[in-house]
Amino acid sequence: MQRRPTFSLTRNIFYQHSLRELRTKPSHCHNHKSLDDDDQRNQNIKENQELPIYFYKSKGQHILTNPRILDSIVRRSNIQPTDTVLEIGPGTGNLTLKLLEVAKKVVAIEIDKRMVEVLNKRVAERELQDKITVLCKDALKTEFPPFDLVVANIPYNISSPLVTKLVYGATPFGSATLLLQKEFARRLLANPGDSEFSRLAVNVKLVAEVEFVMDVSKRDFLPCPKVDSSVVIIRPKAIIPDVNLDEWWAFTRTCFSKKNRTLGATFKHKKKVLELFELLKVKSSNMGNDDDETEERVRNKDCILSSSSLDVETSLFKEKIIEVLKSGGFEDKRPLKLSIEQLLKLLSRFNQAGIYFINDHTKLRNADRQCRINFLHAGFPIHCSVPLHSHGYNWMDCHNN
Ligand SMILES: C[S@@+](CC[C@H](N)C(=O)[O-])C[C@H]1O[C@@H](n2cnc3c(N)ncnc32)[C@H](O)[C@@H]1O
Repeated sequence: MQRRPTFSLTRNIFYQHSLRELRTKPSHCHNHKSLDDDDQRNQNIKENQELPIYFYKSKGQHILTNPRILDSIVRRSNIQPTDTVLEIGPGTGNLTLKLLEVAKKVVAIEIDKRMVEVLNKRVAERELQDKITVLCKDALKTEFPPFDLVVANIPYNISSPLVTKLVYGATPFGSATLLLQKEFARRLLANPGDSEFSRLAVNVKLVAEVEFVMDVSKRDFLPCPKVDSSVVIIRPKAIIPDVNLDEWWAFTRTCFSKKNRTLGATFKHKKKVLELFELLKVKSSNMGNDDDETEERVRNKDCILSSSSLDVETSLFKEKIIEVLKSGGFEDKRPLKLSIEQLLKLLSRFNQAGIYFINDHTKLRNADRQCRINFLHAGFPIHCSVPLHSHGYNWMDCHNN
């Protein structure tokens, strides 16, 4: 596979705090020696042993070395002395050690056991081990322990599922200060009409606010990545729209499947019409189990059962889709330019017309209810800073943009 070593840790530690050089010699990121700071150099060698450790691109192992940036990240995270901070991908611990200075506790999840060993050693040397729990696990596959805030320089190759796991996950939290690939950060920050606007932005912004903090040069990392980075803060919204999230994700997947197409073109496409029609048939065949069926859906059921021609049925159904799009003035609109409010309105019009994007709403209502129960048990007041119905949803369905 991809086990080609890319950078030696010992070498990195030599260079780790040679920041003046990093900033003033931009063209050769890998050749900045910290020879003017012997004390620092010796301390780093001691801290990390002299065993060579290599950084793997495949694990996104780019170590942030600029203490000015590290300090800014910690400062902007507004960590209180009572906070437990979740750090995903602590690496050799440059950020972790700063977090330990201000937080009550740090929970760090790191996939690479070599990094965990270095981190544990550095923490032990400062006698801070009582303040940290290090889990040597894959952050995507691990249930997060309780935390108040997230502060992390995350591996860029898992940014999308990780952000989705956080904002749609089960753990309530105040904010996530994340160092991300600049291009990914731009996509998170994009607004309707921006070329970077996408399903990712729509889904994240449904439940959270995203704030830009600063850009970070690739020269501030070792080894030097190909791309620049940005810090953003994600804050879960106190109140989120009352929408079935699985229905919403399926709906936005359709809308943004070809984000430059008009919604008319997307929804009138034969494959999409048949797909939605199939969903309607599944729902209709399940009818009778659900007290909340609308009259519209009953009419749809009658239509399906009594019609002899599938073509007639589907063309009637297609007309209904067009009617919904036209009635809201959506037919010629492109998803790229629609606000979350407009998308919610369109989804609501579809649902009112008996057109749905998933077929099992009973299960979802239960998940929703269960979440509210868990939420209340957790002792949060109603105006808390977490999505009310984030619990129990399969966030993996959502991040694939
Ligand atoms: C960009 S480095 C950040 C290192 C350190 N936080 C810093 O700022 O210098 C990302 C770290 O995440 C770890 N990592 C990669 N994939 C991971 C995963 N799925 N779960 C947990 N950690 C992961 C890598 O081993 C690496 O140490």
